[in-house]
Amino acid sequence: MRIAIGSDHTAFAFKSEVAKWLCGAEHEVVDFGAMSMEPVDYCEYGFAVAKSVVGGNFDRGILFCGTGVGIGICANKVRGVRAVTCSEPYSAMLSRAHNDANVLALGARVVGLELAKMIIDVWIKTPFDGGRHAERIRKIQIFEEQNRCVEGYADGKSW
Ligand code: RB5
Repeated sequence: MRIAIGSDHTAFAFKSEVAKWLCGAEHEVVDFGAMSMEPVDYCEYGFAVAKSVVGGNFDRGILFCGTGVGIGICANKVRGVRAVTCSEPYSAMLSRAHNDANVLALGARVVGLELAKMIIDVWIKTPFDGGRHAERIRKIQIFEEQNRCVEGYADGKSW
């Protein structure tokens, strides 16, 4: 699999360890930075990796920051990206099976390296289930393109 990776400074060392492990598992890995522990803004790297995935040069993207939250938010701003921030394998697996997630974001301050590998492993290996889930992805795509819900906006309910 061709995998684009990126991080901010907080996750630079963590990302490097994961990259070595991915290469050892025969994946092709391209690192979009950051390349040191010098403070940077996670946004740049989230956008760069996300764009590279929807651009078609990579099968998936994996991002790292302190929590995985900021960089995951940035990735989700790129049309066509379905990024998931995960700290356990169950959500990682279902983000593939149900949501066809194409970018994974991890928090270097949240998960240990071995847990991260477990999360990534299941996320890489799990295929999209399609079927009823494909219709939901289609609705996300329509919203991205047209900024509208397929069935109109639901009315709010007071509790
Ligand atoms: C950087 O201090 C930190 O805010 C960043 O790594 C990330 O956790 C943001 O969501």
